[in-house]
Amino acid sequence: MSAFKLYVPGDAAAVALGADRVAKAFEKAFAEKGMDVEIVRNGSRGMHWLEPLVEAVTPQGRVGYGPVKAKHVAGLIDAGLFEGGEHELRLGDVEKIPFFARQQRFTFARVGLVDPASLEDYVAHDGYKGLKRAVELGGPATVEEVFESGLRGRGGAGFPTGIKWRTVAQCPPGQKYIVCNADEGDSGTFADRMIMEGDPFTLIEGMTIAGLAVGATKGYVYCRSEYPHAIKAMNVAIKAARKAGYLGKQIAGSDYDFDMEVREGAGAYVCGEETSLLESIEGKRGLVRAKPPLPAHKGLFGKPTVINNVISLCSVPFILANGAKAYADVGFGRSRGTMPIQLAGNVKYGGLYEIAFGVTLRELVEDVAGGTFTGKPIRACQVGGPLGAYLPEHQFDTPFDYEAFTKIDALIGHGGVVIFDEDVDMARMALRHGVLRGRKLRGNARPAELDPPAGWRRWTR
Ligand SMILES: Cc1cc2nc3c(=O)[nH]c(=O)nc-3n(C[C@H](O)[C@H](O)[C@H](O)COP(=O)(O)O)c2cc1C
Repeated sequence: MSAFKLYVPGDAAAVALGADRVAKAFEKAFAEKGMDVEIVRNGSRGMHWLEPLVEAVTPQGRVGYGPVKAKHVAGLIDAGLFEGGEHELRLGDVEKIPFFARQQRFTFARVGLVDPASLEDYVAHDGYKGLKRAVELGGPATVEEVFESGLRGRGGAGFPTGIKWRTVAQCPPGQKYIVCNADEGDSGTFADRMIMEGDPFTLIEGMTIAGLAVGATKGYVYCRSEYPHAIKAMNVAIKAARKAGYLGKQIAGSDYDFDMEVREGAGAYVCGEETSLLESIEGKRGLVRAKPPLPAHKGLFGKPTVINNVISLCSVPFILANGAKAYADVGFGRSRGTMPIQLAGNVKYGGLYEIAFGVTLRELVEDVAGGTFTGKPIRACQVGGPLGAYLPEHQFDTPFDYEAFTKIDALIGHGGVVIFDEDVDMARMALRHGVLRGRKLRGNARPAELDPPAGWRRWTR
């Protein structure tokens, strides 16, 4: 064991902001000084404006510094970062930063905290408690636990996960599959990527529980090809889980068998639609299949298949470990539990914010996200990607709730919120990137409420 430990995020967001350069600079500086330091490449905490955010393990706990550039490394070492030394980039306990402290991290509890490549670390942070309970409960009771939690699909449609699982469980015994939709194509979304890169064992555990629940022995993660870090992290974790007996025959010493693999996506938005995704896994062109039959009855290779989004499956270990009630106790109306909301676009404090349903869009974009990066008034938010809607300011008091969004012709979708300031050309955005509150725009049509304010300059790029 090394004398010191430093966490330098290695997920795609942190790497895009220079985390690899920072890690290399630390490595070089520690070697030169003869310091024995273990550098852990963890997932990021989801506060993008602070990345690369490094955390040093000190006698008082983990102390964060950020955003760090390679040029800061020597100064941080001189400041004594392993004693939590003072420095202009010192953030202190990152879990006390308001953006983080106000969250309810059920699904993302371990992201940024653990070493994503370490099964031991996962287990030390409550990992595999959910699977242990599912083994005790058995398949049918596990399905009912997920049903009771009120969990609804986080891929977009919000369909109750328990009902989907029940349908597959009730199909006659035989080959069944669990398919995880990791195609994550909606604008401004990154929750799937972030959890696969920062806590891949949660997805493995969620899929294993799903397999046990419905009687499936094989799982596929269909991950978009643009996510090489996520694919790598998943493959490393799958290998470790298999080696430790958490995948394969008689998982974790039980009577259940389950194994899984990652399939790289074909690079088309439509492959995120569940039936074309199944076609793509089967090696065919990603074309939508007619329904019925539902994938639950006749899915992958014609067999009963559970197809769920990454976040739906990653919510399951918490539900099993803590009980359906703990999950269902938070939320709003028929939207139970938490939603990892992704704040992106022209935003001051962008990142991942996991919170119980019911939070309003205004709280999210004005309070949590701190408004626009440019400091100009917010003109609109796109929620739910291209299938969702652009919401103008007068709809910002809508609570994050599937039904409340449906009522205003909008969609929560995968929880992506893309923020635009007053300079945006809404008609152009709507024409290129979706529909406006359920209405397709044609030509130069522009709803009156989104007309630009006086003095607005047309975006000419
Ligand atoms: C055009 C289109 C694209 C979609 N893309 C995705 C996607 O990228 N990820 C996803 O999880 N679901 C996507 N969906 C929804 C899936 O078809 C499906 O509802 C989902 O995988 C079910 O999982 P869930 O019940 O856990 O949400 C898309 C749907 C459509 C119509």
